[in-house]
Amino acid sequence: MAEIELRGIEKRYGEVPVLKGVSLKIQDGEFLTLVGPSGCGKSTLLRIIAGLEDQDAGEVSVGGRTVDGARPKDRDVAMVFQSYALYPHLTVFDNIALPLRTRRLSFAQRLPLIGGLLPGRTGIEKTIRVEVEQAAAMLDVAHLLHRKPGQLSGGQRQRVALGRAMVRHPTVFLMDEPLSNLDAKLRVQMRAEITALHRRLGVTFVYVTHDQSEAMTMADRVAVVIGGELLQVGPPDELYRDPRDLKVAEMIGSPKINVVARGHWADDRPILSAALAPQTKHLAFRPEAAVLTTPTAGLPGGTVTDLENLGSDIFVHVALRDGSETVVIRTAPDEPRLSLGRAVGLKVDAARLLQFDEAGRRCGDIEQVAA
Ligand SMILES: Nc1ncnc2c1ncn2[C@@H]1O[C@H](COP(=O)(O)OP(=O)(O)OP(=O)(O)O)[C@@H](O)[C@H]1O
Ligand SMILES: [Mg+2]
Repeated sequence: MAEIELRGIEKRYGEVPVLKGVSLKIQDGEFLTLVGPSGCGKSTLLRIIAGLEDQDAGEVSVGGRTVDGARPKDRDVAMVFQSYALYPHLTVFDNIALPLRTRRLSFAQRLPLIGGLLPGRTGIEKTIRVEVEQAAAMLDVAHLLHRKPGQLSGGQRQRVALGRAMVRHPTVFLMDEPLSNLDAKLRVQMRAEITALHRRLGVTFVYVTHDQSEAMTMADRVAVVIGGELLQVGPPDELYRDPRDLKVAEMIGSPKINVVARGHWADDRPILSAALAPQTKHLAFRPEAAVLTTPTAGLPGGTVTDLENLGSDIFVHVALRDGSETVVIRTAPDEPRLSLGRAVGLKVDAARLLQFDEAGRRCGDIEQVAA
């Protein structure tokens, strides 16, 4: 069992608070992604779980056991970094074998030449070979074992780094942006490989990324960290549909959710004005939660300023009437062609309109108001 529990984790560097009381329970075998903008404290949190950094307050437990004060190697966790951290002078085989040799061979046995003559070494090396070859086969690098990291592609290096973490059979994998050095295509491919690896190993994965699409596509649950606070944690579709905070709504989803100041539409008497909560300050809706109509006086609308044709969808940018605000609406490619500069009306699906108060907290749930 290796569920992870964080209770009130705080961390500051000098005067600057970086983590402001993060509490989070990660289930055994779960794939959890931590997502947030650069500098929000993701790596710091991961390093605290790994034991590479000490928190100022709060507790970490792994598998029901408090690990505060335990050294990284005693925590049964393996960490994979953005920079693969492979040893350039060692072959792929030796890189993967390294954690096993460090753990199983004595100092003398590890010495070159002499080590090989010492009793016990041959047998241990044999089992290490089997385990390294198993991991390498699983990650499709078995044919590269004799090469040095410099002779590998980025994706291959990343797989070797995963292999080195795997042979330790950790109950928790911690990954800090492991794919950010790869090009876009390889990144998408490696995403699928890492989730497949997770299914096969069945252990807990905590995966840090600032790429929301990576976070959404890989995880069982996504935890959104912004400014050192955990704002929301839940399954990807829940964060997308039901963000509790405007910052979460804006973090998740591409193109970004549309946000319009309530005042902007006050005169348009738009969308269910009666159902808006008194404290509502921001109206937000996803690009697919509205349709374009013929322009109608008194209803929201604007002018087409840009068309992004992705083949499968066309994202229409609409500058709202008398305002600097622009919204993006998804349309199907078979809908009638729009041209730039054209006036359009806008009809937002009331059930998918989200309301947020001045502080950015979700309010005035339409379903509840309507019920
Ligand atoms: N050793 C350190 N000393 C001082 N400040 C630090 C140290 N390590 C991190 N910080 C600061 O703490 C904050 C959080 O850093 P962290 O590395 O956790 O961010 P992150 O969310 O991983 O960002 P990124 O997405 O860019 O990797 C940043 O403002 C960073 O500058
Ligand atoms: Mg980081």
